[in-house]
Amino acid sequence: MAHDFLVLALSPLMRPTTLPSKTHEKLLRSAKKAMKNAHAPYSNFRVGAAILTTSGKIFAGCNVENVSYGMTNCAERTAIFSAVAELGPGMRIRAVAVINDKGVPCSPCGACRQVIYEFGPDAVIFFHSATGPKRAHITELLPEGFRLQ
Ligand code: THU
Repeated sequence: MAHDFLVLALSPLMRPTTLPSKTHEKLLRSAKKAMKNAHAPYSNFRVGAAILTTSGKIFAGCNVENVSYGMTNCAERTAIFSAVAELGPGMRIRAVAVINDKGVPCSPCGACRQVIYEFGPDAVIFFHSATGPKRAHITELLPEGFRLQ
């Protein structure tokens, strides 16, 4: 599965979207480990995410649900908020990996795409799509993301 991501491809912005295979594998391992800590008693859908910062650090997160369903935090945002808490708001995302315990397609939700864009306007996202493992630039997932300026 990992090799699927190694094929050289260019984003719409013609920027390379590959990672060294060891880094990619580490990112997936971190996401998988975090997934095991998910609090998902309502959906029974466990998600793990890991982000790679531009400084080479990895932060992982899982989904944390709440009985008041709207309070749920997705795995991606858990990982990003953890990175900001540790590194501060200047932290930048190079890559995000998302996995789930059902092995079904799961791309970041709209809210998470906007949060990824805030800290990673040039980030690449690895996730399972309907056609298998997929890699996409954040601007493919979120064209014209919101910015204040
Ligand atoms: N979820 C994530 O954590 N990340 C995604 O990319 C999609 C959805 C979570 C939210 C909720 O806890 C569960 O999956 C079902 O929607």
